[in-house]
Amino acid sequence: MSVERRPLISGNWKMHHNHFEAIRTIQRLAYNLSSADHDAVDVSVHPPFTDLRSIQTVLEADDIPIALGAQHCHWEESGSFTGEVSPTMLAKLNVSLVIVGHSERRQNFGESDEDVNRKVQAVLAQGMTPIVCVGETLEEREAGSTLDRVADQLSRSLTGVNRSQASSLVVAYEPIWAIGTGRTATPEDAQEVCSAIRRQVGEFWDAEAAGGLRIQYGGSVKPVSAPDLMRLQDVDGLLVGGASLDPDEFARIVAYRLVG
Ligand code: 13P
Repeated sequence: MSVERRPLISGNWKMHHNHFEAIRTIQRLAYNLSSADHDAVDVSVHPPFTDLRSIQTVLEADDIPIALGAQHCHWEESGSFTGEVSPTMLAKLNVSLVIVGHSERRQNFGESDEDVNRKVQAVLAQGMTPIVCVGETLEEREAGSTLDRVADQLSRSLTGVNRSQASSLVVAYEPIWAIGTGRTATPEDAQEVCSAIRRQVGEFWDAEAAGGLRIQYGGSVKPVSAPDLMRLQDVDGLLVGGASLDPDEFARIVAYRLVG
């Protein structure tokens, strides 16, 4: 089924930019993006928690059509969870997208597939869109188990999610060996995994859900690699780390369609 899927290009700032730097970055990014960019592409930024309120204020005061995103959250609405932030708190700041299950959180902070699933459901319950991250390690790729690993992460992440919520879901394929390493997956490898993700969502729900699903690729995306990745049939967007910290570089990625 061929469905029009709007591209979504997201900047994951990770633990970079204090709120002063964040304000400067978002203002410069807004200046760099044209109305033609906004007509063609959805753009989101995912700053650290301490920047969210400042960025929300800038986006709303200047009517800037960049979506505000977060990098993670807890699944409970409130409670004794020192250091955590709830989906309701994020929704109150007009956050519309939340990255869930990033490999850095899985590896460094012990997030399990079950935690990811609880977060996916909690984010959806607040009317926000989870960007569910999946991806294999280098060892898994070399052992030929990439597709099995990704399928397993995806099915565990989606357990209990209703068909009616399928359209508010984004999946990001981020091979762990490509994150922050300067090594991007080849277009063939990215397409193989992203098409498998779409097929799996089709089996999980139906062809319409699969056709509407937005799938991002992430891992060392740069302005030079963005056009080839965005040409792939099953890649509908990009989840950008390092290159999103520089508003000039990130704007060139958003303008991928103007290249070649
Ligand atoms: P890099 O673009 O820095 O490789 O990071 C990718 C990523 O982890 C985005 O979530």
